[in-house]
Amino acid sequence: MNILVTGGCGFIGANFLRRMVPRHPEHQFLNLDALTYAGNPLSLQEIEDLPNYDFAKVNLAHSADTHQVVEAFQPDWVIHFAAETHVDRSIKFPGDFIQSNIIGTYNLLESCRTIWSDQFEGRIFHHVSTDEVFGELGETGAFSETTPYDPSSPYSASKASSDHLVRAWNHTYGLPVKITNCSNNYGPYQFPEKLIPVMVLKGLTMEPLPVYGKGANIRDWLFVNDHVDAIWTVLERGEIGETYAIGGNSERTNLQVVEGICRSLAQLTNSSEDQYLQLISFVADRPGHDFRYAIDASKIREKLGWEPSVTFEEGLHQTVEWYLQNPEWINSVKTGAYREWIDTHYGKGVNS
Ligand code: TYD
Repeated sequence: MNILVTGGCGFIGANFLRRMVPRHPEHQFLNLDALTYAGNPLSLQEIEDLPNYDFAKVNLAHSADTHQVVEAFQPDWVIHFAAETHVDRSIKFPGDFIQSNIIGTYNLLESCRTIWSDQFEGRIFHHVSTDEVFGELGETGAFSETTPYDPSSPYSASKASSDHLVRAWNHTYGLPVKITNCSNNYGPYQFPEKLIPVMVLKGLTMEPLPVYGKGANIRDWLFVNDHVDAIWTVLERGEIGETYAIGGNSERTNLQVVEGICRSLAQLTNSSEDQYLQLISFVADRPGHDFRYAIDASKIREKLGWEPSVTFEEGLHQTVEWYLQNPEWINSVKTGAYREWIDTHYGKGVNS
């Protein structure tokens, strides 16, 4: 089978490919990635020479390029990870999110509709989405597949739009789609703009750890390999036209997450936890900051038998250890664009 993976140099896509390409030599994988700031080919170094892996640099917002590559590869399955994903960036540069997440998804849907027009049987367009499309929760409750959409940030609104396009292509044209909405991913190879890698990298260099507001906002944390396995499960056994919510069953306040990182950093560097805890610095809150996300993953658990395999504490410790052991990867993402973001975003608000 030919499997097209978009955004395979990004965090979740790269972890998907690193896990699935060696496990499935019977399938041919093609990674389409625009190699924007968050995409790093170094994340795929260990699989790049495998005979069942190939790469093409394509920006999905360019319809002719997208169509040409999709037509040449003739995928049976498409797993659509490619997206701009960072809420803070979406607040500063919303246009990038419209282009990548909405126009990019539309172009990919149209390419698939064209090349699969002879038959949809055996084909899958798997759209990887987020729980942020559902808006925010108060202290109680959880999102499920039937929660009404209520996105709040430019990022979540763009992902909500793409989910609606995917469902419309199924409903209108019969395109064989599956959708997954996941909670906050963490793990190796995550670009240091999201909470966990920002804190790990700043902790490593003993810089202030910038916690927004009071650190009371709550996220559900999903270890990336558990997410990747859930996607494969849905690909193999999920039903066409269905949506599956994927969560890690690990709700934590941001402050709890940062304290956990301090604990792991201290253990792994044989030093005192206090010296890291003292770095915690409360900074200006994110505009429109969603209070809480949580997922009720009973559908995927009951229908497909998937559940997370690691606890948050295990996964977090493994993640911190990975960053400690991979300075080469960290250096490779610290480009001019990265430094510019860190300086403009955190530069003024952080008290050391
Ligand atoms: P993030 O990793 O950006 O994911 P999302 O906003 O999509 O959930 O942020 C996770 C939480 O951590 C969110 O409540 C915002 C908060 N946060 C901080 O407190 N400080 C930071 O430097 C970052 C990046 C996030």
